[in-house]
Amino acid sequence: MNWEVIKLDANENFFIPRIFLSNLVKEIVDEVDLRLYPSDKVYMLLIHEISSLLNVPVESIVIGNGSDDLIALLVKILAKRGIIITNPTFRIYRWAAEVFNVRIYESMLTTNFDINVDDILRLNNTADLCFICSPNNPTGNQFRIDDLEKLINKFNGIVVVDEAYVDFADYSTINILSKYDNLIIVRTFSKGFGLASFRLGFLVASYKLADKLRSSIPPFNVNTISVLMGIKMIKNRSIVEEAIRKLKIERERLINALSTINGIKPFGSKTNFILFRTETNVESIYNYLYRNKVFVRRFDDPPLNKHYLRVTVGTPDMNDVFINVLKEAVSQ
Ligand SMILES: Cc1ncc(COP(=O)(O)O)c(C=O)c1O
Repeated sequence: MNWEVIKLDANENFFIPRIFLSNLVKEIVDEVDLRLYPSDKVYMLLIHEISSLLNVPVESIVIGNGSDDLIALLVKILAKRGIIITNPTFRIYRWAAEVFNVRIYESMLTTNFDINVDDILRLNNTADLCFICSPNNPTGNQFRIDDLEKLINKFNGIVVVDEAYVDFADYSTINILSKYDNLIIVRTFSKGFGLASFRLGFLVASYKLADKLRSSIPPFNVNTISVLMGIKMIKNRSIVEEAIRKLKIERERLINALSTINGIKPFGSKTNFILFRTETNVESIYNYLYRNKVFVRRFDDPPLNKHYLRVTVGTPDMNDVFINVLKEAVSQ
């Protein structure tokens, strides 16, 4: 691994101590017989931990090989006519629809990056699934719960709320899950828990939907080490909570630092990344950062392709390098 690179392009969590994770893996490797397939018992242990963490019934939980895998499963199993996505949003929903040959309907976010529920409902009866990423990647804001409830109430298909970044946000739609049969919530261990390399995600849905989805997954789809890591991370919740607390403080410091740079406008964030607008065309800034080994995310498509970049909230040291190089980039 080349540690000279400041990797702020994939919203990984650098606040979970690296050594803490490698020690947990060492414990697991000593505990389990790696020659065996994952057991039902180990899957059930994780499901019970998630159930008590989020206060949801075990029957409603389905675990998967990262949430990307579950998103693809949702499109494959539940989308016949089409899916609705907002623009801009996380690109995997579109990718999954293209792979499974499902039509994509788009609803633009408002200028404040809010969802426009009436505009989405114009597509009612044309699509089976509506993906709402909240907090939204890449805009960083969390949608209002009353807007989400209005949508879930009126939409004739299933609303999937992707809560990948919810651990950095204010509230979760988990609290309203029991009210709706047409709501599925997708979560991941990659962000708040810092387990991106393990590929561990889960979804929560009504029993009927959870059953249908579970029976469409091949056996042993998640490996034993990842499942045991998930269990250990939930048990070590205080370490995760402390990491998130520190990350949120650093997020505000980074937003403040960005807002002092000429021609840069950062947006508020309920996630572990920040979207910012650049007055000049983004190309030269992105390239300058890249040449100086600072990786951020740029966008291929409108409306964000010309003037916006996204940066992960790194450790204070990483962010200081990023801010200094960005200052150089804009003053070129
Ligand atoms: C909104 C959103 N959902 C899901 C994922 C994928 O998560 P996982 O690592 O569990 O596949 C990401 C990753 O960046 C994301 O931004």
